[in-house]
Amino acid sequence: MCGIIGCVGRGDETLDTLVHGLSKLEYRGYDSAGVAMASGGVDLCKTAGKIEDLRDALSSVSLSGSVGIGHTRWSTHGPPTNANAHPHQDCTGDVAVVHNGIIENYQSLRDELVSAGHTFTSDTDTEVVPHLIEDELADGAAPEAAVRSAISRLEGSYAIATVIAGTEAVFAARHDSPLVLGLTEGATFLASDVPAFRDFTDQVIYLDDGEFARLDADGWAVSTLDGSPVEKEVNVVEWDPEETGKSGYDHYMLKEIHEQPRALRQCLRGRVDEMAGTVDIEDLGDLSPTGVQFVACGTSYHAALYGAQLFREAGIPAQAFLASEYATAVPPIGDALVVGVTQSGETADTLSALREARKRGARTMAVTNVVGSTAARECDHAFYIRAGPEIGVAASKTFSTQLAALNLLMLGMTNEEGAREVIAALRELPGNVQRILDESNAEAVAETYRDADSYFFIGRGYQFPVALEGALKMKEITYKHAEGFASGELKHGPLALVTENTPVFAVVTGDGEQARKTVGNVKEVEARDAPVVAITDGQSDVGRYADHVLELPETHPRAAAVLANTHLQLLSYHTAALLGRNIDKPRNLAKSVTVE
Ligand code: AGP
Repeated sequence: MCGIIGCVGRGDETLDTLVHGLSKLEYRGYDSAGVAMASGGVDLCKTAGKIEDLRDALSSVSLSGSVGIGHTRWSTHGPPTNANAHPHQDCTGDVAVVHNGIIENYQSLRDELVSAGHTFTSDTDTEVVPHLIEDELADGAAPEAAVRSAISRLEGSYAIATVIAGTEAVFAARHDSPLVLGLTEGATFLASDVPAFRDFTDQVIYLDDGEFARLDADGWAVSTLDGSPVEKEVNVVEWDPEETGKSGYDHYMLKEIHEQPRALRQCLRGRVDEMAGTVDIEDLGDLSPTGVQFVACGTSYHAALYGAQLFREAGIPAQAFLASEYATAVPPIGDALVVGVTQSGETADTLSALREARKRGARTMAVTNVVGSTAARECDHAFYIRAGPEIGVAASKTFSTQLAALNLLMLGMTNEEGAREVIAALRELPGNVQRILDESNAEAVAETYRDADSYFFIGRGYQFPVALEGALKMKEITYKHAEGFASGELKHGPLALVTENTPVFAVVTGDGEQARKTVGNVKEVEARDAPVVAITDGQSDVGRYADHVLELPETHPRAAAVLANTHLQLLSYHTAALLGRNIDKPRNLAKSVTVE
């Protein structure tokens, strides 16, 4: 939540660099935005609204300075108003601060500062920081010492960047919120995420919790908050800046849906040996756990449900937990592995569950898309889904690659019978997804049901998480009511909601017992006049009871889940487009949820 950026060394380009970086971070929040630049004084411009609104606001002011910071906000404390937009300033206007996270002790700090005579102009927790710095400066501290001292008083989560009048430097610190430095000859950047400066450099340094950075004309220095120097490794980012553009698509989400064949190929590359029927994840070492617990949120939780089923089928006890509920879950037993499934690697609920698992003595693993993310660095093991950058707030290609990666993980850790068939199906997956992208009639179905009151999604086994995901995607980007159910559950209550204006999307693959039972559930809704859309490979007779069919090729049920989901992604996307929704930036949401 929230994106922050800072840069030093860009001369006259400083303001443009900041605004460009914010536009790349807008997926992290888009309630308000602002920038501050420092030279002799601090110049600032901020506004409620999106980066476009900030550009408009900047057209009527003049900002100067060679160092700067910027922010795009997802509100936690206070509504998205001009006053609550970052950067925030102290009483003198000499200090400007941007922050991502939540300062838990802000109320007591604010009370103390107000009693000491400070005037606050926003409802935010962040505003305590510039006032604390102001006090330190007034007491004679040098700028860097003043910032360190102020930050040492904060409790909670933060990635903070600040500029101070008369100081040609940006100071930054992190605790439980991401911060990464970008390095070039002559210029240094910091940001919540690499896309903010990826157009300028692929050389990055990931800050760890408790670290402090100084960016100035001499370059950069990282230390602990109390000043001990820290040696940092410079990493090279492997993806291309072009991957974060829209490449001619109307929306990032549509582009990312269409990138799935490539993303899946990247995920599989070098990891499967089809001839031998084996998967190579040797770089993870010998894992052999006695059980697996998955923790995740949202779409990643749906992938975790699928993953738990994979491991159970291979004979390893496995459960999936909503990360935010993990604290009350049964502790891991024996030599268990706790796997956090998290695209961003920065989701606060998931990080907190993984930390809890470590406290309980479990080994941990991150299944993530982001190299260098907090989850990847904090866990004992990291397994990358290799989807490439995903900008649309609604997860699409990362879900498909999570499912593929979880298959690889399971096959690499077990001797499951039938591995050869699964591997063959995974190999065919990119081509089969491409076929669906080329041939799906989901857009026509979206047109037919665009005015529905509510959308229901049902499935069994591997298709149950797909039903949940289909509903989540529909809710997120269309703002319409949608629910996903295990097919058998419909008759235990939700059937009361079924009418001729509630289309039911049934994912039915194969012709086994699960398919037959779901066909029975389809008949139940059809008898109550609900329109039925079958997402099916045609092996069962579900098509007889359906008003529309979204076709799947025959394949392994695990691969069919990815294919069915592709149709459902397109269905939600086209419904949202017909309704004129803000598809890449749905209201009230953010890509990376870094608060609990
Ligand atoms: C999915 O479309 C959502 N944006 C959301 O549910 C997301 O999957 C969830 O916040 C978890 O994110 P993560 O994978 O980055 O941990």
